[in-house]
Amino acid sequence: MKVLLVNGSPRKNGNTAAALSAVERELHAEGIETVTVHVGAAEIRGCMACGGCRKTPDGLCVFDKDPVNECLRLMAECDGLVIGSPVYYSGIAGTMKSFLDRFFYCGGGKLCAYKPVAGVVALRRSGGVDTFHQMNNYFNLANALIVPSFYWNAIHGSAPGEAVQDEEGIHIMENIGRNMAWMLKTLDYAKEAVPVPEKRPRAYTNFIR
Ligand SMILES: Cc1cc2nc3c(=O)[nH]c(=O)nc-3n(C[C@H](O)[C@H](O)[C@H](O)COP(=O)(O)O)c2cc1C
Repeated sequence: MKVLLVNGSPRKNGNTAAALSAVERELHAEGIETVTVHVGAAEIRGCMACGGCRKTPDGLCVFDKDPVNECLRLMAECDGLVIGSPVYYSGIAGTMKSFLDRFFYCGGGKLCAYKPVAGVVALRRSGGVDTFHQMNNYFNLANALIVPSFYWNAIHGSAPGEAVQDEEGIHIMENIGRNMAWMLKTLDYAKEAVPVPEKRPRAYTNFIR
């Protein structure tokens, strides 16, 4: 079993990385493989709403020069996903927001459905819960299984690496790793006996017709 970790901070070894590492440690301790992609320092443009990903059989984005398609391909081989972002102005950092809009619009519903997922955020002081909720918005629309912890998934620190001193934050992250490993193993154990729910036709309205 394998989990994709996406680091959305421009700082490769900053506090978001510390949060992801704590999750990863526990996944490894439970025998789960991981693959990490650092997207936060890449040039990632926002979704152009061109619908190109709806027209190709592989569902990839028409922009192929940034990590979005690489991560979509990796997600197809992975059983779980953890996304991490620093908090910028009480929200997901801009580059990561562009990544997530395109990643989920292209393949989120298909590739993350019924897989355990978690979002983690790093921040100095305020806006952690808002940002965490923004991440869960992607997961909810993808039929993904949001891994719980005992508090909202935020870790505190300012300078790179400071977050390792946030003892409770580290414990939250480690708990996510343990809960995700448990969910992965439970789902794997049950997969023959309990298939995922059948996909039924759904309404798609815009409230005026
Ligand atoms: C442009 C910018 C905006 C920020 N906005 C916030 C904020 O709204 N709330 C907060 O607590 N910290 C804010 N911070 C601080 C970062 O969230 C904090 O330093 C975090 O630990 C960075 O994570 P990283 O080391 O993974 O990059 C901001 C930092 C920058 C550069």
